[in-house]
Amino acid sequence: MKIQSIAAYQIYDSRGVPTIEAEVTLENGMRGYGTVPSGASTGQFETLELRDKDRTKFRGKSVFKAIGNVEREIAPVIVGRDAFDQEGIDRQMVELDGTPSKSRLGANAILSVSMAVANAAAKARGIALFEYLGKGEGTLLPLPEIQIIGGGAHANWRTDVQDFLLIATGAKTYDDVMEITHNVYHAAGDILREKGKYFGIADEGGYWPEVGSNEEVFEWMLGAIRQAGYTPGKEAAISLDIAASDLYDEATGKYAFRMEKREFSRDEFAEMMIAWCRKYPIVSIEDPAADVDVESWKKIRAAVGDRVQLIGDDLFTTNVARIRTGIEQNLANAVLIKLNQIGTVTETLEAIRMTQQAGWRPVISARSGETEDAFISHLAVATNAGQLKVGSWARSERMCKWNEVIRIGRILGQRARFIGKAILPG
Ligand code: PGA
Ligand code: ZN
Repeated sequence: MKIQSIAAYQIYDSRGVPTIEAEVTLENGMRGYGTVPSGASTGQFETLELRDKDRTKFRGKSVFKAIGNVEREIAPVIVGRDAFDQEGIDRQMVELDGTPSKSRLGANAILSVSMAVANAAAKARGIALFEYLGKGEGTLLPLPEIQIIGGGAHANWRTDVQDFLLIATGAKTYDDVMEITHNVYHAAGDILREKGKYFGIADEGGYWPEVGSNEEVFEWMLGAIRQAGYTPGKEAAISLDIAASDLYDEATGKYAFRMEKREFSRDEFAEMMIAWCRKYPIVSIEDPAADVDVESWKKIRAAVGDRVQLIGDDLFTTNVARIRTGIEQNLANAVLIKLNQIGTVTETLEAIRMTQQAGWRPVISARSGETEDAFISHLAVATNAGQLKVGSWARSERMCKWNEVIRIGRILGQRARFIGKAILPG
């Protein structure tokens, strides 16, 4: 099935910021689309998101150069290729770019085509994307990590911790997750209204916090879980994304909580992360140390890694070389997987495979700037990744991912599996 043409154009993400969408048309006239999300707390080892940086156009955020690269550089070499050869197409785009960080063509340009090819190929086969990507092997519905409170770079630093999330540890089915989350999320909203602290929602749909300390948010979370009728740590547990690279100053070697106006040495910060894991019903923690602070990762891994999920996001940036090193050094036990950190579907699948082969857990993730596309829901089921992190329980660019898993479950019928908290360590 040959690719007949490729086009790209500018659309807008959930923050109203430009992003790129590619359209791949096959020789039978079928079309597939690839829509690229965008991070705010991006890791320094991510591939390059190419923006025009022309202040007179979309405040520097337009992506017309990336669009030009799809139409003038990528299309001429990819048109005419077999749409079912995802790997060959992705490798050719990586080669054409020629840089380790995809900085010549832009990872956003390359990924838009890579995703569009996958979507077009699935359509040509007449099957859902998860069936195509998983070659019929993907049957595991993911355990979601759902944000209740959003902070850090996603809420103007009202808390230093970026995400306070919920994992429905009591869920026996995906539907149970939806019910537990619904009850806790809305209970949290009720509590904030009662306290006069309801200030709307942050970038990923979690409540916008106004608190005196990060630990105060734990109390809100525990209160919301109880008010919803559950026992913290039983039916519903806490998960955190510290996004610690954003809190770390490489020049001074110190971490800072801006909201709390506190500074920490590397050791003090790691000790605080370990203490939080012991004090609260925390089952998962992401980026509890900066991407360059390997010693703290080792320390946290040794202290709590046998019972708490330790996810590397900025640490690994979905990069197989970085994941391999992390596995060799035993820095974590899970990897956050974001397509646009690495820039092709093929390399993303490789990152997931390497993570699983090491006995670690891949957590498929959205970005804080998202679109209405639900590619990642399919990716999670296709690879039997077991976990999905999309943001909160509000805003349709988040809900469309949770809802898509329900549709995938319906397609799978009796073949659908859900193992819930058994996916977690401990
Ligand atoms: P980002 O945040 O998309 O803004 O990078 C998500 C995360 O840190 O997991
Ligand atoms: Zn993160």
